[in-house]
Amino acid sequence: AKKVIIDCDPGIDDVLALLLALRSPELDVLGITVVCGNVPTTQGAENALKVLSLLDRLDVPVYLGETKPLVRDYVDATDTHGADGLGESFLPNVTDVRPKEGAIQFLAQTLSEQKDVSIIALGPLTNIARLIQDYPACLEGLSELVTMGGSYKSHGNCSPVAEYNYWCDPDAAKVVYEAFESHPALRQKQIQMIGLDVTREIVLTPNLVEYMTCLSQEIGNFIRNITRFYFDFHWKQEGVIGCVINDPLAVAYCIDHSLCKGFSAYTTVETAGISLGQTVVDTYDFWKKEKNSHILTETDPYRFMTFFITHVFGADAS
Ligand code: BDR
Ligand code: CA
Repeated sequence: AKKVIIDCDPGIDDVLALLLALRSPELDVLGITVVCGNVPTTQGAENALKVLSLLDRLDVPVYLGETKPLVRDYVDATDTHGADGLGESFLPNVTDVRPKEGAIQFLAQTLSEQKDVSIIALGPLTNIARLIQDYPACLEGLSELVTMGGSYKSHGNCSPVAEYNYWCDPDAAKVVYEAFESHPALRQKQIQMIGLDVTREIVLTPNLVEYMTCLSQEIGNFIRNITRFYFDFHWKQEGVIGCVINDPLAVAYCIDHSLCKGFSAYTTVETAGISLGQTVVDTYDFWKKEKNSHILTETDPYRFMTFFITHVFGADAS
């Protein structure tokens, strides 16, 4: 199995991504590191433990990471994810296992000792930027970085041009992208960018959630509890039935690269002004820079949903 650490800010769709990762035999989840994003770090860690408890996987360690962006003030996303980050389901906290301190140290140590470890980053890139800045020697052990963030076609979800994860900590995103251009251990690799271009295609609808509850009462009801608020939000704000779920596609892509298609280019992230957090993709190679990213632009939502359901609910469900 592919060894992965999941860096996340749970978050409704982060929790769906964790469910997928933990139910996938193709992945060996070495640990979960939490960053501030949708909710503060401590709340995100509680939410990660809730999904581990549901799946009886409390053996997977959860580490607390950064509590604020590198430079900017922290802005959460509780308007979309609810006060508890899980759609105001207010599921009880896990009490017998607690999150551990030291996400960055855990990342550094695991990369150094185990090698060939991939990171799936589902939140702002603050933890990853700190890892690059503070422990550059361990990056030899990084096999692949898949990040949910950014938007190639310049259509954002928290400004006209910016996606939340990169908008929340644009300085961190810039550090990470630029490290894949300049760091000797990363220069030969490319960040896999699962941006809004592909994740916007992934829409969860109430009928799918109902179907999931038929496949497993326990997991289905958990998903129903945490997504209700998200459905209401989309219905009230946009008059649409169903909601975009971003993060699980990054996990699915990490398992099976044929789920998305894209192209390679140099990318950086804007850290000031009205385009704050925008991914600037040099599609036509004006700058003649190292191609530090692989920008995914196409996916097959039906294939993804089948993949999600069969992995989370078992092989004969589809
Ligand atoms: C991203 O922002 C968060 O709200 C979601 O969890 C996802 O990672 C989408 O822009
Ligand atoms: Ca997220």
